[in-house]
Amino acid sequence: MMQTQLTRSYGRKKARKLRTTSQKAYEEILPLVKIDQANSFFDKHSREIWLEIGFGGGEHLLAQLAQNPSVSMIGCEPFMNGVAKLLTHLDPKDYDRVRIWHDDVRYLVDVIPPLFFTHAFILFPDPWPKKRHHSRRLITKEFMDKLRSTLREGALLHIASDDVSYVEQIQGVLYNDPTLILCEGPPSSNPSTWTSRPEGWPPTRYEQKALSMGKKCAYMRFQKKERRV
Ligand SMILES: C[S@@+](CC[C@H](N)C(=O)[O-])C[C@H]1O[C@@H](n2cnc3c(N)ncnc32)[C@H](O)[C@@H]1O
Repeated sequence: MMQTQLTRSYGRKKARKLRTTSQKAYEEILPLVKIDQANSFFDKHSREIWLEIGFGGGEHLLAQLAQNPSVSMIGCEPFMNGVAKLLTHLDPKDYDRVRIWHDDVRYLVDVIPPLFFTHAFILFPDPWPKKRHHSRRLITKEFMDKLRSTLREGALLHIASDDVSYVEQIQGVLYNDPTLILCEGPPSSNPSTWTSRPEGWPPTRYEQKALSMGKKCAYMRFQKKERRV
């Protein structure tokens, strides 16, 4: 399928040269788990499938795999060094329950079957703090409409950010969405209303950096409503 050109929502595809072990993992393991013509999505009826968008170095995704042995996960990340990092830590016994979409998630939601995921995570999406860059932000009504259609009824959507103006945008898009229930989340974009990370929610690298700089983080959890018949 021809891909339309999107405004880029991520900073870079590659940073420094990969170390030997990361390069080896990238070359040898990625073909086993990457979604492409050879490796498709999972069969959605086989088990629960979770989605992580922008997994960075994969710390959260790996923690979720360890905590939830019966689920499979699709991780989306265009950043090569992040994908290589995840792969160097991925246990071979988990190769069959992980798939990597090594590209922009907005192309994935166009091709994934509807009602596919039971959990989706968007943790610390690039904040694009400058006003002129706000159009690069991933969480928009248009994207969330597409993402929502990939979620099963009752699925949980987990979002976190440390950026006040992005939290305001997220709340604007999702807090009044009639198809979602707000399960957890601060009442406003004012950091004085933000509380600490909910229990059972594994930390991420970006979050640890933000906290070490004295910033606060907002954690939000939504549930897709069941459709009334
Ligand atoms: C600020 S980092 C946070 C990484 C990780 N979630 C964490 O909390 O440590 C945001 C990540 O989202 C990825 N990203 C941004 N836009 C994306 C998109 N459209 N599709 C998939 N990943 C994206 C970036 O490449 C980057 O690694």
